[in-house]
Amino acid sequence: DTWPKDVGILALEVYFPAQYVDQTDLEKYNNVAAGKYTVGLGQNQMGFCSVQEDINSLCLTVVQQLMERTQIPWDSVGRLEVGTETIIDKSKAVKTVLMELFQDSGNTDIEGIDTTNACYGGTASLFNAANWMESSSWDGRYAMVVCGDIAVYANGSARPTGGAGAVAMLVGPEAPLALERGLRGTHMENVYDFYKPDLASEYPVVDGKLSIECYFRALDRCYSFYRQKIQKQWKQAGIDRPFNLEDFQFLIFHTPFCKLVQKSLARLMFNDFLSASSDIQSSHYKGLEAFRGLKLEDTYNNRDVDAAFQKASLDMFNKKTKASLYLSTHNGNMYTSSLYGCLASLLSLYSAQDLAGSRIGAFSYGSGLAASLFSLRASKDASPGSPLEKLVSSVSDLPNRLASRKRVSAEEFTEVMNQREQFCHKVNFSPPGDTNSLFPGTWYLEQVDELYRRKYARRP
Ligand code: HMG
Repeated sequence: DTWPKDVGILALEVYFPAQYVDQTDLEKYNNVAAGKYTVGLGQNQMGFCSVQEDINSLCLTVVQQLMERTQIPWDSVGRLEVGTETIIDKSKAVKTVLMELFQDSGNTDIEGIDTTNACYGGTASLFNAANWMESSSWDGRYAMVVCGDIAVYANGSARPTGGAGAVAMLVGPEAPLALERGLRGTHMENVYDFYKPDLASEYPVVDGKLSIECYFRALDRCYSFYRQKIQKQWKQAGIDRPFNLEDFQFLIFHTPFCKLVQKSLARLMFNDFLSASSDIQSSHYKGLEAFRGLKLEDTYNNRDVDAAFQKASLDMFNKKTKASLYLSTHNGNMYTSSLYGCLASLLSLYSAQDLAGSRIGAFSYGSGLAASLFSLRASKDASPGSPLEKLVSSVSDLPNRLASRKRVSAEEFTEVMNQREQFCHKVNFSPPGDTNSLFPGTWYLEQVDELYRRKYARRP
C-alpha cells in the first residue's frame, strides 16, 4: 500500500457574515404564527450578506484566514478546489479569483477548479482532493478545499431557510479527521426539487415539499449503500454483525434547516428498525412494533413514523447530532459549506478527548440531486498539542464569534435583499455601504467595472 496514510482534514476555518436577522423578527414581519420558523424549522437567526459581499469575497476571506491561522507557506498548496452554487460567472471560476492570494508568492502550480451541483459541490471537492492525494498525480503538497454560498430566496415560505458562509479545509495525510477509505454510499438521480435556471437572479426555483422527500430518499439509499460497503469490509476482517447507528459516535448532516436534521436522524433509526430482525431486543424500538411492516419508500410523508422515531431517537440526537447544529441554528443554510459548518460546530462544542477515536457519519445532499454518506475517523491521540487537539482548539471561538455579530431588523434585512436584487448583474458600480459593518480582515467587493470585472479589497 503506497497511499499516504489517513488522508483527511488537518485544519478548518469558517466564515459567516457579521450581521443577522432574528427569526422571531422575521415571523412578525411576515405575519406568520409565532414559532413557525423557530420551532417549526428550528432556526433562531439567519446570517446574510450586503451588496459588498459576493461569493468571491467570501472565499477570499476564508482562505486568507485559514492561511493566516495555519501559517503554512503559500507554495505548500498543490491543489485548490472550490465547491459552490453561487454562480456569478458562467466561465470564470472562483478558484481563479483565489489565485490572487497565491500568485504573489510565485505559486501558480495549483490544480483544481470549481465544482457545482447545488449543496454537494463542497463534498465533491473534498473527495477530489483526497482522490488526488491517493493518486499518481499527487506531488506531495497539501490540498485546500473551499466551499461557500450565499443562500437567498425570493420573498415567501423558503426565505427563512436562507443563510450565507464559507468553509476552507486543509487536506493532507496523517490527518486528525481521516476520511475512511472505501466508505462512501452515494445516490444520484434526476429531479427538479431545487434549481437555479434564471441566471439573472440569485433566487432558486424550489419545490419545498418535493425537496424534503428527495432528501429523505437520498438519505435512505446512501445509508443502505454505506452499510453494504462497511459490512463487506468487516466481513473481510472477520466481523460478522449488522452495522447500525450505534457504530457512529457522531452524525452530521447537510442542514437546510435544523428541524430536518432531527427528522433525518429519526429516519436513519427507522432504517435500522426496518432492517433489524424482529427478535432484536432494543430499548430504542419499544412500542414501535406497529411500524414493522412498512416500506421506506411509502413513508416520506408519514407523520406517525416521523413523530414516533423522533421520540425514539431523541437521546441519540442530543448525544450525537445536536451540537453540530450550533452554527446552522444561528446562521442558516450555507449550502455547500453547511455540512462542514456542522463539523466545525461539533469540533467547537466537544473536546478533543470527547472526539478521540470516534467515527463521524456525514451526509451530504445537493438538490437535483447528488448525495453521499461517508465517514471521518478522529485520531486517538487527543493530548495537548496533538493534531486533533489543535484542530479542536482552532474552532473553539465559534460561539463567541457568532455572538459578536450585529442584529439587524427584518425591515433592514428586506431592504438589503431588495438591494441585492437591484445590483445583481449590474455593471459599473461600487457597492454602497459601510465596510465597518464587516468583520475586521474581511475581503469585500470594491468595484464592478463596465466589463463586469470585479475588484476586491480587504478591510483592515
Ligand atoms: P413552510 O411553508 O414553512 O412549511 O415551508 P410548513 O408549513 O410545512 O411548516 C414547516 C414546519 O413548521 C412543519 O413541521 C409545521 O408543522 C411547523 P412538520 O409538521 O413538518 O414537523 N410549524 C410550526 N411549528 C411550531 N409553531 C408554529 C408552526 N407553524 C408551522 N406556529 C419549507 C418549509 C422547508 C418547505 C420551505 O422553507 C422551503 O421551501 N425551503 C427551501 C427548501 C429546503 O430547504 N428544502 C430542504 C431539503 S432540500 C436541500 O436540503 C437542498 C438545499 O439545501 C439546496 C441545495 O442543495 O443547494 C435546499
